[in-house]
Parts: sequence; structure tokens; C-alpha cells
Amino acid sequence: MAGQVKRTLVTAERSGLHQYKGDILVVGLFEGTKRVPREYAELDKKAEGALSGVLKLGDFKGKANETAVLYPGGKLGCRRIMLVGLGDNGKLTLNTIRQAAGTAARAADKLEAARMGLALHTIAGNKLDIEQVGQVLAEGAIAGRYAYQDYMPAKKEGKSSAALRVVLVESRAAAVQKFNRGRKIGIAMAEGQNRTRMVANKPGNEINPTTLGREAQKLARGFGLKCKVFNDRQLSEMGMNAILAVGGGSINKSRLIVLEYKGRGGPKEPDAVVVGKAITFDSGGISIKPSANMETMKYDKSGGCAVLGILTGAADLKLPLHIVGLIPAAENMPSQSSYRPGDIVRTYSGKTVEVQNTDAEGRMILCDALAYAAKMKPKAIVDMATLTGACVIALGEHKAGLFSNNEPLRKRIEKAAEISGEAVWPMPSGEEYLEQMKSKMADLRNVGGRGGGACTAAAFLGEFVGKVPWAHIDIAAVADTETEKPYRSGGATGFAVRLVLEYLRSLK
Ligand code: BES
Ligand code: ZN
Ligand code: ZN
Repeated sequence: MAGQVKRTLVTAERSGLHQYKGDILVVGLFEGTKRVPREYAELDKKAEGALSGVLKLGDFKGKANETAVLYPGGKLGCRRIMLVGLGDNGKLTLNTIRQAAGTAARAADKLEAARMGLALHTIAGNKLDIEQVGQVLAEGAIAGRYAYQDYMPAKKEGKSSAALRVVLVESRAAAVQKFNRGRKIGIAMAEGQNRTRMVANKPGNEINPTTLGREAQKLARGFGLKCKVFNDRQLSEMGMNAILAVGGGSINKSRLIVLEYKGRGGPKEPDAVVVGKAITFDSGGISIKPSANMETMKYDKSGGCAVLGILTGAADLKLPLHIVGLIPAAENMPSQSSYRPGDIVRTYSGKTVEVQNTDAEGRMILCDALAYAAKMKPKAIVDMATLTGACVIALGEHKAGLFSNNEPLRKRIEKAAEISGEAVWPMPSGEEYLEQMKSKMADLRNVGGRGGGACTAAAFLGEFVGKVPWAHIDIAAVADTETEKPYRSGGATGFAVRLVLEYLRSLK
């Protein structure tokens, strides 16, 4: 039943473009290129004018992620040349290169290539940092080839489940060295992202709080992380009543998963606690959701799954930091044991919350986890959650909402977003929004009226972190996608893994 996992091996090699031997060599072209650039002159000559031919005919425009495959004559050691469009020369970023690498790797799969040479950067000259280019090429190829195929019939998988060797082709020795440094970082980043997607894509009948705990323990063993899973009885003793309330309606009882990575030289107090919402299925509970698109609520565990990718990724990168991961996990179901609208819950922090809508469950499980995180006195807390439909409306699927009580932390995450290509947008929160979350009979209520739904949710969460620098990333719109792109498959995106790993890398 469990399908094969596609393996992507990335190495770097010192070689001229025209000397590279493999199934396919990938080069980039900017939009509107009319003549063969001098970087490709030798290649074109050996390929008996295959490149100049295409450009002359105007069959290839160079739009971002456009592809064309050429079949050069026998003088070249490589049987195919693939052109990938890089779009407007003036708008080139690391993400252009990352996407182009993903596009190439996915196109190579269709051609059943086993060995692909990537030289997408050659044309970019010295515009981009070569180490970072090595990183994003590896990221693009590895994340690009990922596909969820656990339940795919074997015959459908075809050769696309075979391994692909990706070789970063570079002719300058010094650049190969830098490539290799970046490549190793990129591999850790993208493999972390893919581990997150592997779990996040699994359906609700497979992943519930208990089985998610087992996945975490399995991963922790593989990466030398500490892992402790608190069961419902233990959560009750600890006073984690909000996590328990949300899972009350399900036979799959709530869990709190705690992961710990201690890199060499890490201090006693964590450098960061990373918290992720894991609702393994969000039906809405008694405040039940409409049935249209409810199946996508298996992705409501994406924040928690991101924690798995981040902690294993941090271990893979051997970051010299002390990082704790917290995954509050529950299944939100309607039944006679469900929590109800009107219930008042005494949360782990001691603050009481009046439940007005059982579908606003993410902030409930997070408030216990955040209060637990704050007790560890970390230097920072970062949480990720598919928290609000309001954030989907506000930003669409192009950016995640970023909230923070600390400007330097916000700036650091914005910088990490630029590098990782996982875009965030600064959102407001604070006093006025918190006002909307006040209850007549408890400290807080769990919904805040019509306006600013993403901001009131953030204001609620902010009440549980004390004075610890904290950032909240609302990933409701970006954690999963229906649409396949040339550079990635549909389903869980693993959003926030590369972003938060990049942030953590900036701390060392
Ligand atoms: N998991 C949802 C948020 C969500 C919506 C994620 C759409 C992805 C796509 C969350 O638990 C929820 O239902 N939030 C409610 C809160 C409301 C009841 C205050 C929402 O956004 O409608
Ligand atoms: Zn909900
Ligand atoms: Zn939810």
C-alpha cells in the first residue's frame, strides 16, 4: 500500500557545460533572449546549433518556468538539453532559481531521466551569491520532485518513483566548493520540508493525535532528538484543559508532543521554542463546518507537521542551538462528549476562556502550548498554525500572515522569508483587537466578532506568551494547495519549514 518514495540525490561536479555527461543538461534563459548568450556559445557549437535554432524560430520565450527540450547531435556527451525560462532578467531572485530547479526536476521525471545536470545559475553571472545558489538548486530539485503517493497503485507510479541524480554543474573550482557548502544546507532544508509534507498529506483515518505522536517518535529516533508524548491522562494532571476540551468529542484523545534538539554548546534555556497547531481533522465540532471542502481540513495539522520538519532539519544542519518543538494535537469532532459553545475552560495558564464557537479550536490548543513554552523562558517563541479563514481572505495563497510582539524578531523572520522564498506579510494585532476577545464571564472568549479575524486570533494567542519575544505565522492559506505548479505538486506544501530553519540559521 505504501508507495515508494522518490529519492533525489544532489551532488556538485566541476565540468564545463559542453563536457557534462548525463541524460539531460538544464540551462536557464531570460525572457526575450534572441541570440545565444556567450555563456552557452561552446555548448551551442557542440550541439550543432540546437540552441541558436530554437532562439531563431522564437519557439522558446523564456517565461518563468517555461521549458523546452532539445536533442543535440552526437558531439555532445549529453543526450538532451533542457531550457528553463527564468523570466525577466531584472527580477531575478533566489526563488527564480529555486523554482526553475523544481521545474527541471519534475520535467526530468516525465522524461524518465536518471541523471540530470543543473546549470541554471550560469547565466546569472555574479548577481547571486554562489553558496546560496547551490542551496536553492538543491532545495528546488528535492522539494520539486516530492509527490504524495502513499496510496497510489504501483503501476501508476512508473519510473517517476526511481531515484534521480542531480548534478550541479560548475566549471570554476572555487565556485564548486561554495556550491558544495550550499548544496548540503539545501538538502537538509528540502528534506525537512518533504518530511513535513509526508505526514501532513496523510488523511485523518491514518493520522490522529496518537499516530502523530508515533510519527514524531520515529522521526526523533532517526535524528537523535528527545521526544516525549503526553497522553490525555497526563495532560489532565498538568491542567492542559484547552487541549483536552478540543479533543473531547473524538475517540482519538489529545496529545502534546514535545521534541528537543540540543546542538553543541546550546544553553539551558532554549534559543527558540517552535510551536505548531496539529488538529488532525477539523470538522468544526458542534459548531460544525459546511461540507464543501471539509476534506481539506486534514491539513489542519500542518503547523504541527512543520515542527517535525524543523526539528529534524535543525538536527540535520547540526545547528549550534537549543530548540524545543511543541505539537499540541487533537481531533475536533462533534459528539456527546464534545466541548460546547458556552463552555468555560480553565486553561494551563490559569486564564479562563469562554467558548463561543468550537470551530475556533486552534487558538484553544495553542494557548496551552504557548503558556507551556513561555514557562521554559526561551529567547523566542515562534508558532505556526492554519488558524483563520480570515487570513486566507486577507492575503490569499501567496503569503502567510506574520504577527509579532517584538520588532527585531519580526525583522529576522522577514529576512528569512526573503531567503527561503516562503513569503510573509506583516499583520497588526494588540490592544484594540484584544478588546474584541474579552468575555463577560471569563478572562477571554475564543471568537472576536466580525472584523479582523486573523488579528483577533493573534491577540488571543498573545495573552499566553507573557513577555517572551513571540512570532505567530498564520499559514491557513499556504499550508496546502489544490493546484499543481510546474515546480511542485499539489497537496501539503510544507510551508514554514524552510522559513523557520532559515530564521534559526540566522541565530547561530
Ligand atoms: N482550521 C480553521 C481555519 C482555516 C480555514 C484553515 C480555512 C484553512 C482554511 C480554523 O480552525 C477555523 O475554523 N477558524 C474559524 C474561526 C472562527 C470560528 C472565529 C474561521 O476562520 O472561520
Ligand atoms: Zn476550526
Ligand atoms: Zn482549525
